[in-house]
Amino acid sequence: MIAPHHGRKTFMTIEFDAAVFRTPNEPLTIERVTIPSTPPPGEVLVRLKASGVCHSDLHVLLGEWEVPSPMILGHEGAGVVESVGDGVTSLTKGDHVVLSWTPSCRRCRYCVSGRPVLCDMVSRHSANHLSFDGRPRITSADGGDVLSFAGLGTFGEYALVPESGAIAIRDDAPFPQSALVGCAVTTGVGAAVNTAGVRPSDTVLVLGCGGVGLNAIQGARLAGARRIIAADISDEKLEQARVFGATDLINNGREDFADRVRQLTEGRGVEIAIEAIGLPRTIESAYEVLARGGTAVVAGQVADGLRVSIDPFVMSDQELSLIGSNYGSSKPDSDFPLLIDHYMNGRIDLDSLVTSVIGLQDINGAFDQMKRGIGIRSVITY
Ligand SMILES: NC(=O)c1ccc[n+]([C@@H]2O[C@H](COP(=O)([O-])OP(=O)(O)OC[C@H]3O[C@@H](n4cnc5c(N)ncnc54)[C@H](O)[C@@H]3O)[C@@H](O)[C@H]2O)c1
Ligand SMILES: [Zn+2]
Ligand SMILES: [Zn+2]
Repeated sequence: MIAPHHGRKTFMTIEFDAAVFRTPNEPLTIERVTIPSTPPPGEVLVRLKASGVCHSDLHVLLGEWEVPSPMILGHEGAGVVESVGDGVTSLTKGDHVVLSWTPSCRRCRYCVSGRPVLCDMVSRHSANHLSFDGRPRITSADGGDVLSFAGLGTFGEYALVPESGAIAIRDDAPFPQSALVGCAVTTGVGAAVNTAGVRPSDTVLVLGCGGVGLNAIQGARLAGARRIIAADISDEKLEQARVFGATDLINNGREDFADRVRQLTEGRGVEIAIEAIGLPRTIESAYEVLARGGTAVVAGQVADGLRVSIDPFVMSDQELSLIGSNYGSSKPDSDFPLLIDHYMNGRIDLDSLVTSVIGLQDINGAFDQMKRGIGIRSVITY
């Protein structure tokens, strides 16, 4: 619905429902909010068609990450460009897009060296849930500002994002599957392909088989890994891991994890270990089962303030690496369309990731399911 904004005569707003975070450990509230219908210069208004529910949203909800509020959560979305602001050249009304939570300036030292997820603008703005000019784009019913998670806020039907935060994709790809490219798929596949640079001779271990981990598994498969060992505490997730390409399964809640990895690798350990949970203990475990010269990739994100402990002598002696992976070290501009092509050509599986399609009003139920480890991704459709 389009209505004139109270007090601001000249510009029109759109009113819609959004799931708003106000207090940790309280359900998100579905609220009526408004957004300007005309994008500021350099921005695009996107009408969301689908949004995935990611564990990073759950970190906020559980108070594990401190963020300002009120805030519309959600950062894994796909939709259609509704209108574009002055100066936007790469997108037009009607384009299908996947939203990126690392809109980039394309000029800073990180962008020009091919690492746009580390862009100066990301650390200044979207990482702090701010637009490029620092002002929230959404207004609550009582006239207050509402922030948008990662500058996106996909748990609502509309979002105003910088031009570089909406990546055009082919228009024959389904929205729920495409939405997942906006976080879990790019993060997981990218952790294996880009950050770790998996080679066909590598044995790859993936710890945690949720939305991110299963994609790390299929990323390792895409890269041709010799063997892919999946570990999780849920047998249901391990069964899924097999579907996504795992060759060996470890239930580390039941089995001795390090022993099993040694057994599966003739005592050597793995060349690549990807942690996709976000717990200090499992990050340490990933590091501890590396073969000489191996690399542990931290894709999981821990609660604020936690630390890990590693043996630095072994690190130098055996030339081990412990590296972080943000958004799969991706280049969203080229990687989003590439991943969608891989999906449309049957090279990666996005269909099996979507285990439940829900309405926005069911959002709190989706978090309950995630906490209980049920299903892979719940996807909201608008
Ligand atoms: N690095 C990035 O750019 C990035 C992007 C998105 C998400 N993340 C982070 O990745 C992590 C995973 O996200 P997700 O959406 O896949 O979560 P998820 O809840 O879908 O999956 C987590 C999985 O870990 C398993 N698990 C929990 N405890 C375990 C343990 N002790 N040992 C083995 N397995 C265990 C669960 O059973 C589940 O399968 C989160 O911390 C999230 O914040 C990072
Ligand atoms: Zn995410
Ligand atoms: Zn930049």
